[in-house]
Amino acid sequence: MALEPAKYNKLEALRHQTISAGLALRNRPHTAIESRIADPRRDGYNTGMTLPSPMSAPNGGLSFRLADLAATAALADALAQRARAGDVIALHGTLGAGKTAFARAFITARMPDVGDVPSPTFTLVQTYDMADPAIWHFDLYRLDKPDDALELGLDEAFNDAISLIEWPERLGPYLPRRALHLHLEFVGQGSGEGARIAHVTGAGDWPARLETLT
Ligand SMILES: Nc1ncnc2c1ncn2[C@@H]1O[C@H](COP(=O)(O)OP(=O)(O)O)[C@@H](O)[C@H]1O
Ligand SMILES: [Mg+2]
Repeated sequence: MALEPAKYNKLEALRHQTISAGLALRNRPHTAIESRIADPRRDGYNTGMTLPSPMSAPNGGLSFRLADLAATAALADALAQRARAGDVIALHGTLGAGKTAFARAFITARMPDVGDVPSPTFTLVQTYDMADPAIWHFDLYRLDKPDDALELGLDEAFNDAISLIEWPERLGPYLPRRALHLHLEFVGQGSGEGARIAHVTGAGDWPARLETLT
């Protein structure tokens, strides 16, 4: 498939970003790399975000009704303020539920001048080393088997960075038990614009940290 030159250059730049970090999965076709480039202002982040009040959920978790993208960004912002090195945040939800939107807001909250936050749909991981600690944003939809994730540098991510993981079930046994789980669901019939319900649960010291969200 031939790509128009401008688009090709952008995709190549993304590809090199990944390869230079030494994280590219071997033998993957790269011509299909594509990403929607986010612009936090255009996408409505950081626009006077207020976190809605949560409802308590079974198993010590919290549920939030997120009326719109700004509310999702507010939750991401609140969790970003409470995150630290070694945290793993598993982002569950079907296609379009808002996993990438959440990750963009989270990364933007910890790195206000980040600029673009591409979806790692085809690169599988995008690292943000300028953040402190670093942030690794995974999208594992295209991971064939859990073992392939080891090549992405999971150890380093889980030890030293904050990991945001879309399609975390693809990791199978490698998903740490201490992970915070965020489930995003469409409200009602809707899919696309509009409200989501977020269920947040976590083991370890997450319940204590979540309490500070109420
Ligand atoms: N409350 C909301 N939370 C998150 N995204 C929302 C919300 N309302 C509308 N959206 C839109 O839904 C889409 C979610 O897409 P995306 O984050 O890429 O989904 P996923 O990564 O889960 O496949 C975005 O276009 C976003 O603007
Ligand atoms: Mg996504």
